[in-house]
Amino acid sequence: MKYFNNKLKIENISVNTLAKRYGTPSYCYSYNQLKYNINTFKKNFNSFSPLICFAVKSNTNLNLIKEIKKFGLGADVVSMGELMLALKAGINPKKIVFSGIGKTSEEIEFAISKKILLINVESRSEIKEIERIAKIRNKKVNIGIRLNPNTDAKTLRQISTGKKENKFGVNDKIFCDLVNYCKKSKNIILKCLSAHIGSQILDHKPYEKMLKVIDRIIKKTNFSFEFIDLGGGMGISYTGNKKLNYKKYCLAIDKFLKKHKSKIIFEPGRSIIGNTGFLITKIIYIKKSGKKNFVILDAAMNDLMRPALYGAHHNMLPSEKRNKKFVKNYEFVGPICESTDRFSSFKKFQELREKELIIICDVGAYGMSLSSNYNIRPKAIELLIKNSKVKIIKKRQKLKELI
Ligand SMILES: Cc1ncc(COP(=O)(O)O)c(C=O)c1O
Repeated sequence: MKYFNNKLKIENISVNTLAKRYGTPSYCYSYNQLKYNINTFKKNFNSFSPLICFAVKSNTNLNLIKEIKKFGLGADVVSMGELMLALKAGINPKKIVFSGIGKTSEEIEFAISKKILLINVESRSEIKEIERIAKIRNKKVNIGIRLNPNTDAKTLRQISTGKKENKFGVNDKIFCDLVNYCKKSKNIILKCLSAHIGSQILDHKPYEKMLKVIDRIIKKTNFSFEFIDLGGGMGISYTGNKKLNYKKYCLAIDKFLKKHKSKIIFEPGRSIIGNTGFLITKIIYIKKSGKKNFVILDAAMNDLMRPALYGAHHNMLPSEKRNKKFVKNYEFVGPICESTDRFSSFKKFQELREKELIIICDVGAYGMSLSSNYNIRPKAIELLIKNSKVKIIKKRQKLKELI
């Protein structure tokens, strides 16, 4: 996305044209960026060629998952719906891992029937339930056990998952007990140790620490895992500054693999899809209140939940650049009756006018997938720009579908 003659374009199509043709708010994705992200991710870890399972929860658009599949990626799913979607996109079940702490019996049965690569379990009760179902069906089921490595991911509190107070995974003692339990089971085949310490991680050190913990636990269990699933969490640059040092993360894994002959699995979501997406919105009104200038957009927290949910920041850009001399402070908000329905604030932003377009950046991950119909607001259209063509990859919801 770049400005040409002061007009913002996604690939080679102007945002103004997109808004005129498809209305606002609109999610728009760049295929070139997606391709670049996947190839870069692969290159970053090419010393050991991991199995990359795209975290479907980050973006559940069927067309995008079909595109991602064409690069050979598998899927990390967390519900029966996501598993169905990954299969519908044509992803090979042998490249699908099923994560989550609360898989129901129905979900487990479905996953077993589809012969997916791994069910990553998170509790003793879940193993017993899988074993019960597998016994009835006379099946052997491949599983991973998710370790909670008690590692601080140094990310937002709300998306941190690898500390002992978090609900995810099992601690080292239970992990060792469960490995011993699986060794004796006739219907469960333990193949994987999995971990996922959080999301939007920009510091490689928590990953290094996690690997040390995993190394220690493997030695304790004296078990040879075919797979080590390191989860996802690789952060992206929402503010244009810090970036994750992939080289150092990769070096730490190389070192780990000298001791353990396992295949590495990753479950990246945000790092694959995050910066491919833009939310095109229109200014409905601008209103002054004391020292504040509120810009009321036609997109709201139901379209993009991250700021309200995590206090997350997204960069915002005008569709047309004007004279830089006229700058104002602005707070961008949505029209929903919640004070948390606000996006970002800027101390210096070019002076804006009502009806102009504002683009919210980096919304490809946990944007549309977290959207809702709150306030009976229809979900936005989704567009993909590929080979200079715009494709509608999800229609705008109609009010009559909701009422
Ligand atoms: C188990 C698991 N794997 C992978 C991911 C994807 O994380 P990210 O999008 O940060 O790469 C998540 C996200 O929360 C997760 O819970």
